[in-house]
Amino acid sequence: MKLFVKEVVNSIKHIGAIAPSSRYLANNIIKHINFEDNQVIMEFGSGNGAITKQILKQMPSSSRLISLEINDPFLKHCQDKFKVYNNFEIYNHSAIEFDSLLKQLEIEKVDYLISSLPLAILPKADLDVLFKKIPQYLINDGSFVQYQYSLNKYKFLKSVFDNVTLGFTPINLPPAFIYKCT
Ligand SMILES: C[S@@+](CC[C@H](N)C(=O)[O-])C[C@H]1O[C@@H](n2cnc3c(N)ncnc32)[C@H](O)[C@@H]1O
Repeated sequence: MKLFVKEVVNSIKHIGAIAPSSRYLANNIIKHINFEDNQVIMEFGSGNGAITKQILKQMPSSSRLISLEINDPFLKHCQDKFKVYNNFEIYNHSAIEFDSLLKQLEIEKVDYLISSLPLAILPKADLDVLFKKIPQYLINDGSFVQYQYSLNKYKFLKSVFDNVTLGFTPINLPPAFIYKCT
């Protein structure tokens, strides 16, 4: 929590939150993942690892979690905190260009994209580039799961995906909406 507060003060523009996700929010997000062997899960914006931790706790060892984080202190924190997991990788690589990393790693598609990106403050050009690519990189029955503190991108997400279901977690600072998009 101390690291989170420090990084929020240094970089609120990129973090877009005042506190890490609560365990309730993290669990409500990952209940949308149907964990199976040999999956690839990609996470956008691991922060200090609130959601990362819950994914790693449930993910089988044959599956792989690839997290992207552009904040170095958060990246180092997660590298250290989750070093016991051989199926976890984290890169200082922007989620906007997640496809170039997948190409480097020779991965065609992923099963799940779990995003904590602050969509409300992302530049429109980045948003458009990112969401044009996301559906192309999900397997057929894959999902994109995102949380937000407001509903301001609900309509936008419905314009990108065939199906968007909405959830709500009151026990979080602030309370959060969860979009599951397929
Ligand atoms: C709202 S915080 C969420 C952190 C954590 N997942 C949680 O739920 O507590 C958003 C995170 O996304 C990261 N971030 C912002 N823009 C990013 C980008 N373009 N690529 C990768 N990570 C990014 C920030 O550095 C920050 O750690």
